[in-house]
Amino acid sequence: MAAGWVLHAVLFRLLHLVLFSSVTAFSIGVNYGANADNLPPPAQVATYLKQNTYIDRVKLFDANPDMIRAFAGTGIALMITVPNTDIPAIASRSSSAASAWVAAHVAPFYPATNISLVAVGNEVMATSDRNLIAHLVPAMRSLYAALAAAGFHQIRVSTPHSLGILSASEPPSVGRFRRGYDRAIFAPMLEFHRRTRTPFLVNPYPYFGYTARTLNYALFRPNPGVFDPATRINYTNMFVAQLDAVHAAMQRLGYGDVEIAVGETGWPSAGDAGQIGVSAEDAASFNGNLIRLVNSGKGTPMMPGRRFETYVFSLFNENQKPGPTAERYFGVFNADLTPAYDVGLLRGGGGGKAPAPGSGVRRWCVASAGADGAALQANINYACGSGGADCGPIQEGGACFDPNTLLAHASYSMNAYYQAAGRHDFNCDFGHTGVITSSDPSKSPSPTLLIHSLSGEVESKSLLMLDFN
Ligand SMILES: *[C@@H]1O[C@H](CO)[C@@H](O)[C@H](O)[C@H]1NC(C)=O
Ligand SMILES: *[C@@H]1O[C@H](CO)[C@@H](O)[C@H](O)[C@H]1NC(C)=O
Repeated sequence: MAAGWVLHAVLFRLLHLVLFSSVTAFSIGVNYGANADNLPPPAQVATYLKQNTYIDRVKLFDANPDMIRAFAGTGIALMITVPNTDIPAIASRSSSAASAWVAAHVAPFYPATNISLVAVGNEVMATSDRNLIAHLVPAMRSLYAALAAAGFHQIRVSTPHSLGILSASEPPSVGRFRRGYDRAIFAPMLEFHRRTRTPFLVNPYPYFGYTARTLNYALFRPNPGVFDPATRINYTNMFVAQLDAVHAAMQRLGYGDVEIAVGETGWPSAGDAGQIGVSAEDAASFNGNLIRLVNSGKGTPMMPGRRFETYVFSLFNENQKPGPTAERYFGVFNADLTPAYDVGLLRGGGGGKAPAPGSGVRRWCVASAGADGAALQANINYACGSGGADCGPIQEGGACFDPNTLLAHASYSMNAYYQAAGRHDFNCDFGHTGVITSSDPSKSPSPTLLIHSLSGEVESKSLLMLDFN
């Protein structure tokens, strides 16, 4: 009887392992950039990621103590970054800068915060600063020694590189490091990685390499592939080809065995007018397939069977990033922690599938009170014109004609467009004259903010009608 029960328990445990091993193997990191003025406090972010998502690694671009502390007790593995400007001092053997850095930025937080890697600088090779570049490998060694001396043997050291480190990458088999840097910098760096069993960290961005012709190749969609005659491998994805180009360069120097990790890669969910390949669907295709690939254990043609520790860029849409519109829409989450699109990072909800954008918290788009009349009229013209929103209700005689003000009509049409277009933040931007709100504007005490929701949800629609009558 007892033996039967034990056997039963063992079988149950085995079944459990078989059923859930693929789930527990799911691992993904994100870059937590904070170039924004509307993000939640770090502690709220850390708790949310821990409780609601499969994200188990976070990469910081600095060593901000509030951020590091926020992840205490979450178990989430943190990568923190030494600023580029600290590299020369840390490299120096005669100074105590490396141990001072560890004492200030690691010791107070570890192990409560699971710091798993210290990045020495960010894309240092791309700075073309000879002084920084010359001190990079010595700084990595020095920091590693300081961590070991402090007893932090589990904490790894690396440094992220843009793919500008390669002088050739297409097809992948020709991959090589830039001459001059290959033997002087990369050989000793890779030797360091081999000796310390730490990953070579690269930032491959198919986004910065695609054209209209290669969009499907970049987005993991069906495409004719790129044939590499030297290896007779047919590459059907640019990310995989970029990883293999890095591998080929490493192998050329004799370091094909060193692990590769992906410090950054990603795809924006919005861009400038006329830009192709930057919808929420495109971002979901890239990031969703990326997450599946790096977790699959399939590896790449040149690195079969490998998994790649990977940090998606980025956690949040960052509204203060300079540059083209797309720069502000790399986030897998909006600033209010709603998913920017469905990429399978949320726990619960249907086997790890995130809910569709906008589900859960109800959100509305309204005209900003400060917007001028010309902008409001332009928004109406756009939303009701090429935007395709149904603006019948604000025509004279329509159910939402009153209040007959420009602000109310603009809010109605902007919201109609926002709801129909998928409720992404960028659907409510309107040249910074739109505001997303989670409080139902039809219940606002201010009559100028009264609008009708075109959510398609009958019950809330009738509720809104009641409010107007
Ligand atoms: C720290 O993160 C690593 C990598 O994800 C993980 O294996 C380890 O279990 C974490 N440690 C704790 C104490 O949660
Ligand atoms: C590469 O693979 C794609 C997709 O499977 C296929 O359409 C294409 O013909 C292949 N090209 C070569 C040269 O094998």
